[in-house]
Amino acid sequence: MASVPSLAATVHQRVADALSAALPEAGPADPLLRRSDRADFQANGVLGLAKKLKGNPRELATKVVEGLPADDLLAEVEVSGPGFLNITVADAAITARLAERAADDRLGVPLAERRGTTVIDYAQPNVAKEMHVGHLRNSVIGDAIVKILEFAGEKVIRRHHIGDWGTQFGMLIQYLIEHPHELDHKAGEEVSGEEAMSNLNRLYKASRALFDSDEEFKSRARRRVVDLQAGDPETLALWQKFVDESKIYFYSVFDKLDVEIHDADIVGESGYNDMLAETCRLLEESGVAVRSEGALCVFFDDVKGPDGNPVPLIVQKSDGGFGYAATDLSAIRDRVTNLKADTLLYVVDVRQSLHFKMVFETARRAGWLTDGVEAVQLGFGTVLGKDGKPFKTREGETVRLVDLLDEAIDRAAAIVREKARDLTEDEIAERAAQVGIGAVKYADLSTSMARDYVFDLDRMVSLNGDTSVYLQYAYARIQSILRKAGDAAPTAHPELPLAPAERALGLHLDEFAATLAAVAETYEPHKLASYLYQLASHYTAFYDQCPVLKAETPAMLENRLFLCDLTARTLRQGMTLLGIRTPERL
Ligand code: ARG
Repeated sequence: MASVPSLAATVHQRVADALSAALPEAGPADPLLRRSDRADFQANGVLGLAKKLKGNPRELATKVVEGLPADDLLAEVEVSGPGFLNITVADAAITARLAERAADDRLGVPLAERRGTTVIDYAQPNVAKEMHVGHLRNSVIGDAIVKILEFAGEKVIRRHHIGDWGTQFGMLIQYLIEHPHELDHKAGEEVSGEEAMSNLNRLYKASRALFDSDEEFKSRARRRVVDLQAGDPETLALWQKFVDESKIYFYSVFDKLDVEIHDADIVGESGYNDMLAETCRLLEESGVAVRSEGALCVFFDDVKGPDGNPVPLIVQKSDGGFGYAATDLSAIRDRVTNLKADTLLYVVDVRQSLHFKMVFETARRAGWLTDGVEAVQLGFGTVLGKDGKPFKTREGETVRLVDLLDEAIDRAAAIVREKARDLTEDEIAERAAQVGIGAVKYADLSTSMARDYVFDLDRMVSLNGDTSVYLQYAYARIQSILRKAGDAAPTAHPELPLAPAERALGLHLDEFAATLAAVAETYEPHKLASYLYQLASHYTAFYDQCPVLKAETPAMLENRLFLCDLTARTLRQGMTLLGIRTPERL
């Protein structure tokens, strides 16, 4: 593994050195280098520095230029305007740097300098309930962040905090006791995800109807909650049946979504039951929480309701029941103390922001979150329908995630079928899944997380524009070129001059590592998506302007194949980190 610095970093260092040499009294100075339209880079730092030291900016700029070592890196440096530096990198330096990237499995991307242990809470559906578009977001965003962090060398522990506990289980379990065999499967029989969910739906509706109409059933159901909480083995065994049936369903949806989930990482709310009483005791003993009207509460100066009264975080209700907060606080203790996390991430709807703010603050006061531990909610926005309101069916019900995914796959199948005539039906189905699911994931990941976005399949599967299909086609097109190249192998030729479209593509390819570092640092997959979209756009311009297979000379052919190949590898690596497939043919 070789870490390859970007040209931008190298140029930055050069100019910084020349700047401090020209002006030693200023100490280390930032040349403020950025990409520019006029040249490859522009350095603006001289201007501010000269002004600060009451010198002449153009004079200082000229001195900096004179101080730059004459070697193969820079082709031209010109002083412009009041004291900017316009910097053009040599073509040979670009090709040589890209060749270093190409020689490395990781495309020259280094591991992060600081690597620790992150516990990430994502993909957390609820037992005996349908998955909806909200679960699309927490699964897809979480999966991308896991991959991005792991690629940066972070130790990542996944936690799927599924909703598998609560009073509603009393009703379900009691119903199952009175209607046994409802969740039994015949020996050897495989139940599909759809069947599992429809079994759960049927039980839910039937038990709900009974609960609402039959007072005696209602009180039996309530007593069942007490048995469940007391850990009565028969009750727990039935509860487990609901969890297991739900997992069949979850796994079928995750499978369709192409998100890999491992059983050991599913630690639902129930997983913290044994800690709840102690969590409350510790909070009460330390005075972090106080009893208020029988409930155990934590108060905050800056959290008030519309009436101006403080709104507490309720850790234990007055009837003794533990809520969502007690579970999350216990999970923090587990993740910090047992899992040794130094970063806790929560991919959860922004509408839960107040909950997490209060939970984190409570955990800090209790000393469970120490200075060395960072806790961040990666709050995501709402998925909207075309009417701009939260996505609902015409009947006003929440949209089932599976239905959306199936529709996306159907749309993609139509496109794949139309474009590729020589594919078998199986191949069409496989590509359609990769294109359709990729489209849905990309649309989600390419918007900045906290923003709402409109679920618009027409736009998502469009071949043109900022879509995964566009990226997938760019990748497949390159593979087709590489296949057609026959014996000619992608080979870097630094001695060749580059056309403008080649330079632009090359400089962008060189930014891959820096982009990934920033994305891993700020947890913003949309920046990776936008990098990849720009990459595909640069490639399209290159493809239009620079003939590859019909290049003028064999060396040019090889060098262009080299650019094609590195583009494909970069696209593939980037899309893999987003959880999006790159079919070899489309
Ligand atoms: N199950 C919840 C939902 O479906 C999300 C859980 C979020 N994670 C947590 N630690 N509270 O909205």
